[in-house]
Amino acid sequence: MNLVRSVSLFVFCLWIAVMQVSAKYSPLSLSSREILKSKCADCHSSKAVMPFYAKLPFVKDLVKKDVEDGLLDFDMEKDLNDIPDKDLDEAKLIHLETSIADNTMPPLQYAVIHWDKLLTKDEKIVLLKWINSVYKLKGI
Ligand code: HEC
Repeated sequence: MNLVRSVSLFVFCLWIAVMQVSAKYSPLSLSSREILKSKCADCHSSKAVMPFYAKLPFVKDLVKKDVEDGLLDFDMEKDLNDIPDKDLDEAKLIHLETSIADNTMPPLQYAVIHWDKLLTKDEKIVLLKWINSVYKLKGI
């Protein structure tokens, strides 16, 4: 168990180190962007690939509505990806912070099916730390 932990920690540090070399974003920013991509892209990326059930009648319409509404508020392709931290939109950041801190995202009806997409406690800490670091960077 301890060995597994050490090895994972080592791999994680190595990953951070590699990322830092190619640093356009801070490690905190990169981790946060990865978390958002893996947990939120289904509804907040215009590039999201819908799962098979999204093609079924009725279900399709439900999911489509969620994605359309979700994209209106926060589209990762437009509002996050390839945008350096200091240029991120303040209002979007505040909404992001609120939705994470208040556990309103992902929406309940989705979380029930995709419990693996719920943010873990650690992921929330990383995201909130990152958002606060961006506020500082922007002098907010
Ligand atoms: C099942 C689709 C779905 C998933 C997955 C999802 N969202 Fe959303 N999101 C929505 C919808 C629909 C809205 C717009 C309606 C609302 O606010 O509930 C929204 C709105 C938002 C908003 C804007 C809220 C506001 O106050 O304007 C933010 C920020 C957000 N989501 C962040 C996230 C984050 C972060 C995740 C991942 C942890 C996530 N969402 C996952 C569907 C989703």
